[in-house]
Amino acid sequence: MNLEELTKELAVIQDEILTKIKASEAIPQLNDIKVAYLSKKGPLKDLQTKLPTLKPEEKITFGQKINAAKSTIQSAYDKRQEELHLQEVNLRKDKNWIDVTIPGKKISIGHLHPITQLRREAENIFMNMGFEIVEPRSIDTDYNVFEALNIPVGHPARDMWDTFWTTNGYIPITHTSAMQHTILKEHDLPVRAIVPGRCFRQEATDATHEHTFYQIEGVYVDKNITLSDLIGTLKTFLSAFYDRDVQLRIQPSYFPFVEPGLEIMIDCAICKGKEGYCSTCRGKRWIELVPAGPIHPNVLTMAGIDPNEYSGFAWGMGLDRLVMIKYGIEDLRWFHSGDLRFLQQF
Ligand code: PHE
Repeated sequence: MNLEELTKELAVIQDEILTKIKASEAIPQLNDIKVAYLSKKGPLKDLQTKLPTLKPEEKITFGQKINAAKSTIQSAYDKRQEELHLQEVNLRKDKNWIDVTIPGKKISIGHLHPITQLRREAENIFMNMGFEIVEPRSIDTDYNVFEALNIPVGHPARDMWDTFWTTNGYIPITHTSAMQHTILKEHDLPVRAIVPGRCFRQEATDATHEHTFYQIEGVYVDKNITLSDLIGTLKTFLSAFYDRDVQLRIQPSYFPFVEPGLEIMIDCAICKGKEGYCSTCRGKRWIELVPAGPIHPNVLTMAGIDPNEYSGFAWGMGLDRLVMIKYGIEDLRWFHSGDLRFLQQF
């Protein structure tokens, strides 16, 4: 082949490569083209091998032409590579576009229910006073819920509680007093225990009654325990819980497992005894809060404790009620409503 023919062929090959480069649609394809045309076995190398057949001046001329063709191809390649790269970046930008300047979403983690918060507070106060915490059983026997509390089968006092029964004769506990017998029987004396727990009653629901509610039972037995120990314990607890010097008023009540039965009342901190209607104390100025009393000798005897040697007291305060009074909540049903407008206030 002479110089003219070689030059023509070079032009054909160059055009072919340039067309392919321009037509390439992705970087891997572009790279394949480069490898195919510029490699040692490519058509350009082929032409180069024909150089020795030319005259010396022609060799120089053709050598320069090949180099020019190579650099034209290289710049076409570089240009196309840049274009394809940009194309890909833009495509990705549209697909997975992330605006890093948008503030992050806050993950809301919630908090403890007000009843749980105050149950823990009450537990801490009692623990500081030397009480241990005992968990009740959610379902217990008739013996523990009633009989061991001096309320035998057929006793009219059973009507004081609207009790649920399972079909096989067990009781979703009517009151945390269901643990009194177990504590007295199983714990060494002296004993100081509280039983925070969930209770169940078959009651029509209204602003102050729920089928499910919480109580904190207290059981204290030692030698020489008197009513003043009961009053002192409750006054200390209630003053710590409400963070003020709580005043107590005590009136007689009746529960078969305490003798005498008492109702402990506290002064109303909402109206502070002022004239006019108060939804918390209903204008009475005193709030009935803690039924309590010295443990009945029969209850001690049934648990194997000699009532001539030991005495003690028990109470059963309603935790829901304690919380309602602390925060001035008027309707008990808010607690189980799951309504965030209510819950987020605590
Ligand atoms: N268990 C009683 C109730 O729920 C309350 C109570 C407890 C009264 C302990 C006296 C002593 O009605």
